[in-house]
Amino acid sequence: MSLAGLAFPLARPLLHALDAETAHGLTIRALKVMPRLSRPTADPRLAVDVFGLSFPNPLGLAAGFDKNAEVPDAMLALGFGFTEIGTVTPRPQEGNPRPRLFRLAEDQAVINRMGFNNEGHAAARARLRLRRGRPGIVGVNIGANKDSGDRISDYVTGIEAFSGLASYFTVNISSPNTPGLRALQSRNELEQLLSRLNAARARTDRQPPMLLKIAPDLREDELEDIAAACAAGAVDGIIVSNTTLSRDGLRSPQAAEQGGLSGAPLLSLSTRQLARMFLLTEGKIPLIGVGGVQDGESALLKIRAGASLVQLYSALVYKGPGLVPEILAGMAAELDRTGGTLASLRGKDAALIAHQGSSGT
Ligand code: FNR
Repeated sequence: MSLAGLAFPLARPLLHALDAETAHGLTIRALKVMPRLSRPTADPRLAVDVFGLSFPNPLGLAAGFDKNAEVPDAMLALGFGFTEIGTVTPRPQEGNPRPRLFRLAEDQAVINRMGFNNEGHAAARARLRLRRGRPGIVGVNIGANKDSGDRISDYVTGIEAFSGLASYFTVNISSPNTPGLRALQSRNELEQLLSRLNAARARTDRQPPMLLKIAPDLREDELEDIAAACAAGAVDGIIVSNTTLSRDGLRSPQAAEQGGLSGAPLLSLSTRQLARMFLLTEGKIPLIGVGGVQDGESALLKIRAGASLVQLYSALVYKGPGLVPEILAGMAAELDRTGGTLASLRGKDAALIAHQGSSGT
């Protein structure tokens, strides 16, 4: 286990006694200085080739943890198969007033209304330039400034700024904390956005794969529109999903806080939407499943719903970095038990999962 994995059980009571954002800041500072042991090697059966990239394992760190590209190598050293920095916006911005990050311990969940607080493109670029040439898949999640007069141009600027540095791009149009941003998910706006981004991409020397990250709170007809707009190579993949505005069955007093909910309560909704997207795209567009992944079982559920890769964030808050090797070991054990491969499980239960629970229409 990594040093961070060993230290977390000791540090957790202290971190959880602090305001969640202060604890996060301390964690980033500790990760920056912590000596890194060599990167753990994953079971070769967990390797995944997708979007033209070779992932050593399918478990990635979701966007929002390392917004400013401060600790990508530290996160890869924990055993993640890839990491995603951002969301970054062209200009630095403060985000919403604090407090804006809340732990819902009884629900193993988090609510955030950070509002794309980040140091802007230039700061993230400078850090990524320093690590250029190092191994490891580091995606760049791009967004728009809150006060931008032309949001699509902000995404275009992101493509231009990071095309030489990103292993892949995530186009984040699904944060609930920037008013109006989610409207980019509607068919006309999305088609316009993707066509401008693909034109911008065609002008750059390197063309990293481009993924679209969507919200879990979409009706079936909205999912259909997105699937249609993403067809014919408009994107290389879709990430399902960002945080939810829904608040079903929560017990924690902080449940009334505004913002996006993530963690355990998001698992069934985001996995159902993932399965629907897999069916709508007929398995032709690779998907990343994110939302409520907390153990080997939930990670494999995403694969069975149609994901090629999975990501997590909130479970780290409760379980710490030891969770990464634990999930990978859980996935490998399940492959041992069933004699299957990740490829054979992908989308196997999509039809079943897509029709579970509420219709969402
Ligand atoms: C996020 N998430 C997020 N997503 C994104 O695309 N850009 C961002 O800047 C952020 N910021 C962010 C901050 C915080 C504090 C949290 C908890 C989450 C969403 C995240 O990447 C992921 O999609 C959801 O959190 C669902 O996964 P988990 O947390 O349930 O594993």
